[in-house]
Amino acid sequence: MDKGSFYLTTPIYYVNDIPHIGHAYTTIACDVMSRYKRMKGFDVRFLTGTDEHGQKIQSAAEAKGMTPQELVDKIHVNFKELWKALDISNDDFIRTTEPRHVRAVQAMFERLIEQGDIYKGTYEGWYCVPCETYVPESSMGENRTCPDCGRPLITMKEESYFFRASKYVPQLIEHYEKHLSGVMPPVRYNEIMSFLKSGVHDQSVSRTTLKWGIPVPGDEKHVVYVWFDALINYATAVGYLDDPAMFARYWPAVRHMVGKDIIRFHCVIWPLMLIALGINVPVSVIAHGWWTVDGEKMSKSKGNVVDPFKMARVYGADAFRYFLMREVPFGNDGDFSELALVGRVNSDLANDLGNLLNRSIQMIVSYADGVVPSAQPSGDATDSDVRSLGASTLKAVDSAMETFSYDEALKHIWTFIRRGNKYIDETSPWKVHEAGNAGRLKEILLTLHDTLRLSAMLVAPYIPSSAEKMWAQLGLPGSPMAALLDDFAWGAGAGAKVKRGALLFPRIDVEKWKEEKAKEKAMNAASVSDAPASLPSAPSDHEPQIGIDDFAKVEMRVALVTKVEEVPKSKKLYKLDIDLGYEKRVICAGVKQFVKPEELLGHRVIVVTNLKPAVLGGVESNGMILAASVKTPGSEQVALIAPASDIPLGSRVH
Ligand code: ME8
Ligand code: MG
Repeated sequence: MDKGSFYLTTPIYYVNDIPHIGHAYTTIACDVMSRYKRMKGFDVRFLTGTDEHGQKIQSAAEAKGMTPQELVDKIHVNFKELWKALDISNDDFIRTTEPRHVRAVQAMFERLIEQGDIYKGTYEGWYCVPCETYVPESSMGENRTCPDCGRPLITMKEESYFFRASKYVPQLIEHYEKHLSGVMPPVRYNEIMSFLKSGVHDQSVSRTTLKWGIPVPGDEKHVVYVWFDALINYATAVGYLDDPAMFARYWPAVRHMVGKDIIRFHCVIWPLMLIALGINVPVSVIAHGWWTVDGEKMSKSKGNVVDPFKMARVYGADAFRYFLMREVPFGNDGDFSELALVGRVNSDLANDLGNLLNRSIQMIVSYADGVVPSAQPSGDATDSDVRSLGASTLKAVDSAMETFSYDEALKHIWTFIRRGNKYIDETSPWKVHEAGNAGRLKEILLTLHDTLRLSAMLVAPYIPSSAEKMWAQLGLPGSPMAALLDDFAWGAGAGAKVKRGALLFPRIDVEKWKEEKAKEKAMNAASVSDAPASLPSAPSDHEPQIGIDDFAKVEMRVALVTKVEEVPKSKKLYKLDIDLGYEKRVICAGVKQFVKPEELLGHRVIVVTNLKPAVLGGVESNGMILAASVKTPGSEQVALIAPASDIPLGSRVH
């Protein structure tokens, strides 16, 4: 029974943002595989976690007025909560700010310095701040922009430690030549091989430009580059530094699942680091495709980011999990549409699976008092056909799972489930009952129970809580997850007492669903265009009461905007020249996304004039203009505040 170890990891997600469908997808795919391998008798270790250092996190913390530590302590919890809501069975959750990880990173860094594979040099190049990568001239976008995010690049020069990646490239090429499944699917394998063959530069692995990272041992003005830090999590979590026995148990059997966005880090940099350290390269890196939503790229500004919490709440974790695994061939890009999800719930889950369960339980109750009869196989061709399809389904599913072809596995499973429904139509148990053929009826009821018992086991990795419910209705003890697929035996459910239960997947009325969606949309639109009546009653930024003296401390005056310029490095800021009548000043205003330059230029605004100067986007700002704003799901509205009639510049606002 012992099949050996199977260690599977998700990427560790950045905590600068809330989790979305993309994060859910990778983690669900790993969860399904882990559950499947456990049911095949493997010693499974399933890891996920959060990536908590680096520029992205530091910037996100600054924007929210928090320390990076406060931010990561707060946001990582969202991921843990989501994994609970989606029934994720991870064995560990690693955070890169944990001491166990900091120590492992420093140990690896130190060792590579000692053996001469990390050395100090100077790095100069074009750098994308949000993506935290230097971009080579050859892959820059138009006007020196980042090929990934499209934002402008800046030049950067810094002292840096370098990892001698180039030295180990031939060894890695040789490894992949021998291990064709080292990168999956083949399209990614080919991509990685041609990248490796085009040459890999030594990699900058430290930064002096930020503080939020793991200090380089012995040279604390450097912090370890976030990717060098992050990749090591996979080793930390299975005891690379602290638990050699655990490391030996799980390491050679490691597989990393990632989105196609981060394969170079996982299939090139990470294995090169491992080779340098004399550690085994992972068995494989499995790369999946990219989700769009209703045909469009997901983005906050479009407001089309799919909230996995909401999906689980509205449709149930199982329906969401099933849809994601079934909808696209693994490795391909996919498009998320709620309507398509509803369609799958109705056809596959309610109609095929739910019906088979209901009809069968109903008949076992009606014809056998709810107790699954025992019967000797009569050699009936229809029954033999179901059994042999069951056996071949187990094999077909296993070979699909070998290549992470979840959709293929599900197609096989559903062919078996539909065979079950067809079996009912073919055998017409009600006719057999009427004809008084008790022996044959027993055999049919047992075959149905078998079909459902095997179906429950096969679907358990995908829709675990529904499989548990099926199991209970079938009158079986324990949980389908605890059963071993290889031990499945026909006829073993005889004697079980079935229990009728609630519908597994109630049908969704598509017409009603469409009406409700339309209403929801209309309500969202209304709350953006005219401030909804509910807003003043409970604004979330409501402040405590203050005295008039507190208010009087704020000096506000009428000013004229005489010049509007963009602050080049900032998405949000304008640099404004303002005239207060008695004085001219420069101030910065963070309204670029909401207000056009012509709405400011030549207009009177209200300025807080006694605010301490601050440097914003490299510009010293001497004051602040007033604006009203409201945030609604998916959008933000901003209106400048202006005096209602002409009044001399410099007039005080009381
Ligand atoms: O890259 N479709 O973290 P991250 C499919 N911290 N999958 C998606 C997706 C989409 N639209 N969007 C995100 C990082 N993903 C690093 C990883 S690992 C040592 C460090 C998934 O929060 C997909 O798995 O940006 C992708 O690789 C991952 O989220 C990136 O998550
Ligand atoms: Mg990302």
